[in-house]
Amino acid sequence: MAEHNQLIDAINIRTAVRAYDDEPIDDDAARQLEMALQPVNLLGNLNLQLVLNQPKVFEEANASGHLTGAANYLALVVPKGDEQARERAGFYAERVVLTATLRGLATLWVAGSWNKTEAAKHCRIAGNEELLLGVVIGHPKNHLAYQSMTYDELCERQRTHRSCKTYEQFTVTMGDEARAQAPDWFRAGVEAAMKAPSAMNRQPITFSYNPDDDTAAAHIDTTAGDEHHALNDLGIAKLHFQIGAGQGQWAWGDGGLFIHQ
Ligand SMILES: Cc1cc2nc3c(=O)[nH]c(=O)nc-3n(C[C@H](O)[C@H](O)[C@H](O)COP(=O)(O)O)c2cc1C
Repeated sequence: MAEHNQLIDAINIRTAVRAYDDEPIDDDAARQLEMALQPVNLLGNLNLQLVLNQPKVFEEANASGHLTGAANYLALVVPKGDEQARERAGFYAERVVLTATLRGLATLWVAGSWNKTEAAKHCRIAGNEELLLGVVIGHPKNHLAYQSMTYDELCERQRTHRSCKTYEQFTVTMGDEARAQAPDWFRAGVEAAMKAPSAMNRQPITFSYNPDDDTAAAHIDTTAGDEHHALNDLGIAKLHFQIGAGQGQWAWGDGGLFIHQ
């Protein structure tokens, strides 16, 4: 894995992981994750927090067998009632997910598979803030075997581990001709977004390319049935797209434009 240390590499190997080893996150890895949190909190006006060793938060999910050994999490604490903060939280928390992935750690976004009330007890949440979602972080079960897998094996695992909408579905508003004429960076961006996590794998985001001003746009597909988490998933998908496309920046919001630089 040493030569695969770019964010796009993390996108290519990340999968949701539901079974974790007992091995704690060591001080060094925790420090690196904390260091990743500081700039994203500043940039995103967020209060993401790393909480270690609180298995009670996942007691029910661990007991039911849905999860195994979940104990640590990233808490997405955000300004209360701020719609855009949901999108920013998706964007920036996924950035931390990719950092964790490059450290060999496994992750799982959680909306339902945790006790949110219990989770909130271990966070600093001001009166004007709320706990939105969590991301489990830890060593994947049998992590020594995981670490011995090659980058190519991990990519293959990512490619085959779940169903995925097609490129055509992700660019549903474009015709074949428009797709063929779109630049390589657009295709690379969409392909990275296709590997993004989304609530219940609904993949509710579509992309389009506008040749008139050389921009891309991201849209929430309201038919995907993801109304609770669509903004969060929009932020995650935009981060993946941005990394896949190389250089460039998004405007926030449904229909927000991406300018490639
Ligand atoms: C906002 C959000 C909430 C999620 N909540 C849960 C959850 O509560 N329990 C769970 O097992 N998976 C949850 N997931 C994980 C998704 O099921 C998973 O990302 C999706 O199936 C795609 O698989 P992948 O992450 O392996 O690409 C959630 C994902 C997102 C983005």
